[in-house]
Amino acid sequence: MSYTEEMRRSIAKVEATRQRRLDEVYPRVGDEEKRELLENYHPDYNAEAFATLKVGPNAGDRTPRELASLLEGRPRVHPDKVDLSRVDLEADVLVIGGGGAGAPAALLAQENGADVLLVTKLRFGDANTMMAQGGIQAADKPNDSPAIHYLDVMGGGHFKNDPDLVEALVMDAPFVIRWLEEMGCMFDKEPDGTMITGHGGGTSRKRMHSARDYTGAEIMRTLRDEVRSRPIRVLEFHPAIELIKDKQGRVAGAILYSFDRNEIVVARAKAVIITTGGGGRLHYQGFPTTNHYGATADGLVMAYRVGAKLSFIDTMQYHPTGAAYPEQILGQLVTEKVRGLGAQLVNADGEQFVYPLEPRDVEAAAIVRECRRGKGVVTPSGQCGVWLDSPMIEVKRGPGTIEKALPAMVRQFKRFGIDMTKEPILVYPTLHYQNGGISIRPDGSTNVPGLYAAGEVTGGTHGRNRLMGNSLLEITVFGRRAGRAAAEYAAKAEVGELTLDHLREWFDLLGPEAAAEELELAPLLLPDYTRHERTDEVLGLE
Ligand code: FUM
Repeated sequence: MSYTEEMRRSIAKVEATRQRRLDEVYPRVGDEEKRELLENYHPDYNAEAFATLKVGPNAGDRTPRELASLLEGRPRVHPDKVDLSRVDLEADVLVIGGGGAGAPAALLAQENGADVLLVTKLRFGDANTMMAQGGIQAADKPNDSPAIHYLDVMGGGHFKNDPDLVEALVMDAPFVIRWLEEMGCMFDKEPDGTMITGHGGGTSRKRMHSARDYTGAEIMRTLRDEVRSRPIRVLEFHPAIELIKDKQGRVAGAILYSFDRNEIVVARAKAVIITTGGGGRLHYQGFPTTNHYGATADGLVMAYRVGAKLSFIDTMQYHPTGAAYPEQILGQLVTEKVRGLGAQLVNADGEQFVYPLEPRDVEAAAIVRECRRGKGVVTPSGQCGVWLDSPMIEVKRGPGTIEKALPAMVRQFKRFGIDMTKEPILVYPTLHYQNGGISIRPDGSTNVPGLYAAGEVTGGTHGRNRLMGNSLLEITVFGRRAGRAAAEYAAKAEVGELTLDHLREWFDLLGPEAAAEELELAPLLLPDYTRHERTDEVLGLE
């Protein structure tokens, strides 16, 4: 399926302006235009799409409607129907989530003396990390420093970020690159062994380390291999559906659900680390997503019910360049690296309308504006998009650059008869990342004793907008920190009598609506694309 005739006529205009655009540096947006763009075109500012939470630690805060109905949802298990005297699994540290934050958490907990159990909803490695393309930031070049990296992160987040978390992020960054490399991660290098680094949106130095355009897969491969080579238990297809506390109010394990056996499993632990990632599969405001199938915000739901405070849950990241055509790959990631290498965003007339490497929220809002003012390209299924002029990369950097730097993307489009080395690709913003989540301290601890969290499930590091490459960094930095801190805590912790009293309190808070089963069952576990009646009621317990 290549382009339609109408799209080809627009592509001819893109080609006609290419030579002129070669020397054109589109101006960066000023503060006033930025404000105007965000307020009018960024989905975070669409007031109707948000609800105000009525119960729980964040009562009074705004969050997307889809997330609100899960956070205030109905538990899948009733506390009176679970026998906590029957403990099926036991560990010092229980890691919930098998992605790029869970694996380093498990590694650091294990090497700090803990007996570790890692449980995951799908397969180990089925996570957004695996799908991350562009790179991981670290200030390890002579012209850069963690202090400059810090300023970039704060600027990208509109200076709302938690400064202590940002400090931890940027200070650990050069070390974690070496740590990953020593475990076998193959980053792109010059022939003399120097790391190749590039720009991302909002970065003032080239500090993006990559492995072609499958950086996340390479990092996940490395981490997963390392976990598998150590005495760490991994249990796949066992999502956690509720946290367990002890009578002293400490988190002391989780109720897992066995997809295979359709039954619950009780896991007791001295400390629990949540690394379940984000919620892109909730498709806020109907947006397509780059996220993996299991990204349904489970960790937020479970943490919320035990009293964990959440932060920045009113801000989501819409990656500016999701595939808008063909429809089969709608919303899939087109890495920012494409723009980092020199591709420009242009409208249906072949004109640039935004500097290509603005921070993501600004870039995404500019694309939405271009479509709303009728300057986008509309596909046969009615999806609007703008052109990402990928051939510009080879005009600037020479033939073969795209195939070398973006081999996975070239193949992705070739499957549909589109050669991105010769013709532009159509893009539109796609739901990519959850800027907020469980509030943590720099060691991954939360306001609830025994509960730790790391990665996309947390909030604070990125403020109101994350920069490219700080997610792969965040999972590694805070996964490690949480693993170490949880192991140290577990070494001293006692677990008292297990209880689900917090669920009883939760049912009381929800009131009669919950009893009447009018509320969403949460956590969601898997997205429902069928829109049929729910098939997975309360897990065979009723
Ligand atoms: O564009 C990208 O490659 C995405 C990277 C990220 O979200 O960090």
